[in-house]
Amino acid sequence: MDNGTRILVVDDEKVVRDGCRRVLTGKGYDVTCSENGQEALDLLEKTEMDVILLDLKMPIMSGEEVLERTRACCPDIPVIIITGHGTVDTAVECMKRGAYDFITKPFQIEQFLLTVGRAAEKRRLGREAQRLHEENIRNLYDLDLEKSRLKTIINCMANGVLVTNRNLEVVLHNPALMRLLEIAAPLENPVPLSKILDADAFAETLRTIQSGDSGEGGVFSQELNVGKKAVRAISAPALGRQGRIAGTVTVLEDITAFKQLDQMKSDFVNMVAHELRSPLVSIRQQNSVLLEGLAGPLQKKQEQFISRGMQKIDALLELINDLLDMAKIEAGKAVQHQVPTDVCEIISEMVAFIEPRAREQQVSLNYSCNNLKPIQADPKRIGELFNNLITNAINYSPNGGKVSITAEGRGEYMEIKVSDTGVGIPESELPKIFDKFYRVKSPKTRQVMGTGLGLSIAQGVVEAHRGTIDVESEVDKGTTFRILLPVVPEA
Ligand SMILES: Nc1ncnc2c1ncn2[C@@H]1O[C@H](COP(=O)(O)OP(=O)(O)OP(=O)(O)O)[C@@H](O)[C@H]1O
Ligand SMILES: [Mg+2]
Repeated sequence: MDNGTRILVVDDEKVVRDGCRRVLTGKGYDVTCSENGQEALDLLEKTEMDVILLDLKMPIMSGEEVLERTRACCPDIPVIIITGHGTVDTAVECMKRGAYDFITKPFQIEQFLLTVGRAAEKRRLGREAQRLHEENIRNLYDLDLEKSRLKTIINCMANGVLVTNRNLEVVLHNPALMRLLEIAAPLENPVPLSKILDADAFAETLRTIQSGDSGEGGVFSQELNVGKKAVRAISAPALGRQGRIAGTVTVLEDITAFKQLDQMKSDFVNMVAHELRSPLVSIRQQNSVLLEGLAGPLQKKQEQFISRGMQKIDALLELINDLLDMAKIEAGKAVQHQVPTDVCEIISEMVAFIEPRAREQQVSLNYSCNNLKPIQADPKRIGELFNNLITNAINYSPNGGKVSITAEGRGEYMEIKVSDTGVGIPESELPKIFDKFYRVKSPKTRQVMGTGLGLSIAQGVVEAHRGTIDVESEVDKGTTFRILLPVVPEA
C-alpha cells in the first residue's frame, strides 16, 4: 500500500528484524535491517530513509544514543522506538527527546502497521511541505529576477516610459523620461501627470484609453510639443487583474531631429520646385509662340517635335505644381481663403474640363448633386481635389468604364462620392495609397503616368477643410472615394 517508503529496522534480535521485514515488505515497504546502532548510523550516512524502527536495548550502542545522533543528523526522519513492556518509561522519555512514537514487543500486527503507516505519512507530508517551500522560494526568486530584468530594461531604454494609475498619476517612469522632460529633481511617487507634463490633449487621450471604449486594442499615437521638442507618444491601456484597465502605459520618443530633417527636405524640394518653374514657364511660352506660328511658319515635322516637347513640359509643370501644393499643405498654408462655395458648380466645371479626356478613353462621366448648401471652402483647392479624384477614376478605368460623382447634403455635412468601374485597388494596398509618392505597382496601372502625389494632396485638402476621405475598392470591379465635408451653418 505504501510502496517505496524506505524503512530502517535497527534491532539486535534477528527474529524481530525478520518479523518486521516480512510484515512490512508484504505491505509494499522497502525494508533495510541493521543489527546494531553503529551499523545503522553508517547506513544513514549513505542511504536516505523515511522511517526508523529502533530497539532501545542493544549491544555496542544504546538505542537512546542512536536516537540522539539520528535526531542530530536527520531530524526529519520519524523514529519509532521498539520497546519491551518493562521499558515503557524509557520509551516515553525517548519521545520527549524527539522520537515519533513507540511500539511494545511482542507486536500486535495491526497496531504495528498503523504506527508505521502514520510515521510514513508524516514523513511524506514533511517532504511535500519541504518541496512546496523550495518551490515557493524558487518562484519568488524568479519573480524577483523578472522584476529586476524589467526594471533594467526600462531604465536602459532610450525612450521615455510613463505609467499612470487610474487617477492619472505617474506611478512609474524611467531616466529617459526625466531627460526628455528636462526634470532634474527626483519625482514624488505618485505624482499628478499635470505636474510634469502640461499637455491637455495627451491627458485627454489617456482618459479615453482608461474609459476602455477606444477600440483597436486601445493603442494611441500622437505628437506633442514639449518645450522646444517634438515628441511622439504611443499610449496603451495597462491591464490589471481580470483584464480590467488599471491605468496607462506610454512610450515617448524625441522626434525633434526627424522633424527638422523633414522640414529641411520640404524646404529643399520647395526651393528646387520654385527655381525650376520660372524657366519652364518661360520655355513653354516661347514654344507656344513657335507653335502659333508667330515666329514664322513651321513645317509639319517641326510642329510635331515642339508639340511633343510641350506635352513633356506640361507634365513637368504639373509635377512641380503638385510638389509646391504638397509643401503648402504640409506647412498648413494650403487653405487660406475660405469663402462660401458652391461645390456642385465646381464639380460641374471639373467634369466639363475633364470630359474630352474621358471621351478619348471612352469612359463615361456623369454627376448629380442633391440637397447641397454652399460651404465655407477654398474653391481652388476643392477644384484640385475633384480634379485629382476624377482624373484617377478615368486613368485607372479600362475603355468603356463609367465614372460617376454624387454630392448630397446630409444636414451637418455633405457626402461626395467619386466612383469608377475600373481596375480597383488590392486590399493590402489601400492603407498606403494616400502616402506621398506611393503608386500601386501592377501591370494594369503601369502605363498610367503619375507621381503618386494626387491622393496625398486630395487628403491634405479635405483635412484642411476639417473633412474626411476614405476609400472602398474591389479589384476588377471598381473604386469609390467618399468625402465628408462639414457644412458650417450660416451666421
Ligand atoms: N480610382 C482608382 N482606381 C484604381 N487605383 C487607384 C485609383 N485612384 C488611385 N489609385 C491608385 O493609387 C495610387 C496613388 O494615386 P495618386 O493619385 O496619389 O497618384 P498617381 O495617380 O499615381 O499620380 P499623380 O500624382 O499624378 O496623381 C495610384 O498610383 C493608383 O495605383
Ligand atoms: Mg492621381
